[in-house]
Amino acid sequence: MSDIVLKTENLTASYDEHIVVKNVNLSIIRNKITAIMGPSGCGKTTLIRCFNRMHELSPKAKVEGKVLLIENSNEIIDVYSVDPMLVRRKIGMVFQKPNPFPTMSIYENVIAGYILNGIKLKKSEADEIVEESLKKVSLWDEVKDRLRKKGTFLSGGQQQRLCIARALAMKPDIILLDEPTSALDPVATAKIEELIEQLKDTVTIVIVTHNVGQAGRISDYVAFMYLGELVEYGPTDVIFTRPSHEKTEEFLTGKIG
Ligand SMILES: Nc1ncnc2c1ncn2[C@@H]1O[C@H](COP(=O)(O)OP(=O)(O)O)[C@@H](O)[C@H]1O
Ligand SMILES: [Mg+2]
Repeated sequence: MSDIVLKTENLTASYDEHIVVKNVNLSIIRNKITAIMGPSGCGKTTLIRCFNRMHELSPKAKVEGKVLLIENSNEIIDVYSVDPMLVRRKIGMVFQKPNPFPTMSIYENVIAGYILNGIKLKKSEADEIVEESLKKVSLWDEVKDRLRKKGTFLSGGQQQRLCIARALAMKPDIILLDEPTSALDPVATAKIEELIEQLKDTVTIVIVTHNVGQAGRISDYVAFMYLGELVEYGPTDVIFTRPSHEKTEEFLTGKIG
C-alpha cells in the first residue's frame, strides 16, 4: 500500500445533478508524476478538485464516493471526513493562470498559506521556508534581491514558479497542477517541465494536461479520461505505445480532443 499516496473509490462528482466525473477508481503512486489527459470538458479539473475538496466550493457541487490519502506513516486519511483546510495543506494546487496574491510581496506570497491559515512563523523560520521554496523552483537567484517587491512584477513563467513555491512551502504530500503551462511561452514551459521532474523526489505530482507531448515528456503514469469516465490508466510508456482503448489511441493520435 505504501507506494500509493492517494486512492479514489467510485468517485462521482456533479454540478446541479449534471454528473461530470463518473465512478472513478484511481490510485496515484507516491513520488511519481501522473498526468491526467483527455479532451476539453471531460472532467479533468473537476476530478482533481475533488482530491483536495475544492470541488465543493463551487455552487451546487456534489461529491460521492471516497478519496483516501495515505501518509508516509501508512496512516490513511479519509479526505471527506476531516477538516478541508488540513486536506488542502496536504494536497496543494497550482492553477492554469498564474495567480500570485497581488497585494503581497514575493516573500509574503511564498508563505501565504501560513499567513492565511493563521499559522505564526518565527522570522528565521519564515526566511528559511522562503529561501528553500524559491530554491526548489529555481527562482531564488532571480528574486533574492527583491523579495519585498510585488509578485505581480514577475514574468508569467516566474509567477507560475512562485505559485509552485507557494504550494511547496506548506510541505504538501501532493501537488495538483491544472494545465500549469497553458498560459506560458515555450521557454517558460520547458523550464516548468524541467522543474516538475526535479520535484518528484520530494512531492507527488498530479498534472492535468491536454498536451500529449507534455504528458509523454514528463509523466510516469497517465490517466486518460473521456466524458467523465476514466478510460485507461497505466505507465506512460505502455499507454503511449500500446493503448488498450480505441478512444485513448484516437486522442493520442490527435483524432479527438
Ligand atoms: N462551475 C461549474 N458549474 C457547472 N458546470 C461546470 C462547472 N465547471 C465545469 N463544469 C462542467 O463540467 C464538465 C467538466 O468540466 P471540467 O472538469 O472543467 O473539464 P476539463 O478540465 O477536462 O476541461 C464540463 O461539461 C463543464 O462545462
Ligand atoms: Mg480543466
